[in-house]
Amino acid sequence: MRAVLNAIDYVSKEGKFKKTAGYIQHGVTSCMLHTIAVAYYSDRIAKKMHIRYRRRELLIGALLHDYFLYDWHDKAPERKIHGFTHPRCALINADRDFELTKTEKNIIVRHMFPLTLIPPKVREAWIVCAVDKICSVYEVFSKNPYTRLRAELALNNVNVG
Ligand SMILES: [Fe+2]
Ligand SMILES: [Fe+2]
Repeated sequence: MRAVLNAIDYVSKEGKFKKTAGYIQHGVTSCMLHTIAVAYYSDRIAKKMHIRYRRRELLIGALLHDYFLYDWHDKAPERKIHGFTHPRCALINADRDFELTKTEKNIIVRHMFPLTLIPPKVREAWIVCAVDKICSVYEVFSKNPYTRLRAELALNNVNVG
């Protein structure tokens, strides 16, 4: 959890990550809680699988994978293609606000594969791509998602909206 909190701290101080607490992602889950959950579980799963991965980059990339900074439920006409366009939008925003590595960029821009046709290139991006889908389905169906994770975040003064 310490590494996750450090990564949250970094993206909160350098950019507009805190703004994502104000947008709903799925169900009752804010965009901020969604990306924190994706980062947290990607890290746990990668560790469980005993694969080699760049932890800091996996966490930063996961936290910024939905850094598109708008409410995608706002019914603007371009939201119809949000699923296809938001990875690129998140990458443009994140690239403006942070010094990103190639791995972090790949995580962000490829996370919607196979909807967006080009697959991830690095294993960190494959993990985030898979975990994002699991978390999204969970968020849509859960009435009270991530209870333990939220409690731990609250203990550490992370306000997820
Ligand atoms: Fe996304
Ligand atoms: Fe996502």
